[in-house]
Amino acid sequence: MDIGIDKIGVYVPKNYIDIVELARARNVDPNKFTIGIGQDKQAVPQPYEDAVTMAANSADSILTAEDKQALGLLIVGTESSIDESKSSAAFLMDLLDLPEDIRSFEIKQACYGATAGLQTAVDFVSQNPDKKALVIASDIARYGIKTPGEVTQGAGSVAMIVSQNPRVLKLTRKSVYMTRNVGDFWRPTFSKTAFARGKFSNEVYVDFFNTLWKKYQEKYSATIDDFSTLLFHIPYTKMGTKALRTLEGKIPDTKYAELTEHYQASIKFSREVGNLYTGSLYLGLLSYLTNAAQSNEELLLFSYGSGAVGELYSGEIQAGFDTIIDQNSILKMLDNRQKMSIADYEKMYQIEYQNGTIVDPQAVNSKFYLSEIKENERLYKKLK
Ligand code: COA
Repeated sequence: MDIGIDKIGVYVPKNYIDIVELARARNVDPNKFTIGIGQDKQAVPQPYEDAVTMAANSADSILTAEDKQALGLLIVGTESSIDESKSSAAFLMDLLDLPEDIRSFEIKQACYGATAGLQTAVDFVSQNPDKKALVIASDIARYGIKTPGEVTQGAGSVAMIVSQNPRVLKLTRKSVYMTRNVGDFWRPTFSKTAFARGKFSNEVYVDFFNTLWKKYQEKYSATIDDFSTLLFHIPYTKMGTKALRTLEGKIPDTKYAELTEHYQASIKFSREVGNLYTGSLYLGLLSYLTNAAQSNEELLLFSYGSGAVGELYSGEIQAGFDTIIDQNSILKMLDNRQKMSIADYEKMYQIEYQNGTIVDPQAVNSKFYLSEIKENERLYKKLK
């Protein structure tokens, strides 16, 4: 039975900051941020947005009534959870009007969460062929103002429906994975911002990619000629570039040039949005599908979550995928965003809603939003 991604949608906040303006405000050469880090814009969420509201928005962009009835599993991958106990998935049940005979939970392993969700969903569908699964990645990446990681922030959500006979990406079920206890990035429960050993994290990421690619070749007698495209976890676009560059000189030049060209298509959206944490690999997939992909292409996807878990797996783009993805709406959503000044971004960064906050819906620019914090409980609404 063929199983994989049947639909994929995205949500990004309506505001962004310009990375050149950020560089100037931090007295940094803009080339360091645009070339050295590889970013152009950074999505900035409003205080009424969080992992739940963004997840609702991305899922809502792809779910039909028929999909909802067929759902048997809902997994939200996030490392920006809003509750230590209740999962983001539970909040989505009434926001998305889902039937209650669904197994739902939240999953966390840094930026690997969505891939863990996706592979779990594939197993679920193989056991329940008539059912579908909804996997959502949703995160706000925060390192703090004036930190080295600030330029690698971002926010957004990617939602995927997994089913049999998928119309976007069939997963070949060929996969290798690994886990090591590594201190490259972490966020203690008391902290709103992440701590990272940035350069060390780069080294571990590249090492995981090389180790997994070796394992994949051995396990499946594969060669690079089996693939036309490599997609990477891209917290910032230079990071994937570093992993890709390790293949230069080890594979034919023409293949390296092809992979590099396709990688450029896969990072277009990330350059515009920034870090989605666990959604980053899937924003790259969507960018590739929207900007360059061809039917029947064989992809290799590298997922990495600090801490650290890595997985390298393959998929086949399905014929007609471009009729399933709402490319115009995605491009329009990116184009219609409003630029925010660095001063306004800094002010908004400090806002943290407290118990008793009531949000005025007139001031909201998102279909799903945090409406109130009452008795320390976050309550959500959908704009009428
Ligand atoms: N023009 C072009 N490139 C420039 C430049 C300029 N004027 N100045 C610096 N650069 C390049 C550097 O050569 C470097 O490139 P390299 O990585 O290929 O060597 C890059 O810009 C970054 O410079 P660096 O001095 O290393 O930056 P930094 O000390 O500010 O740290 C990060 C950058 C990415 C390590 C930091 O932002 C960070 O820690 N981010 C979070 C990392 C993370 O999230 N990890 C976990 C994700 S899985």
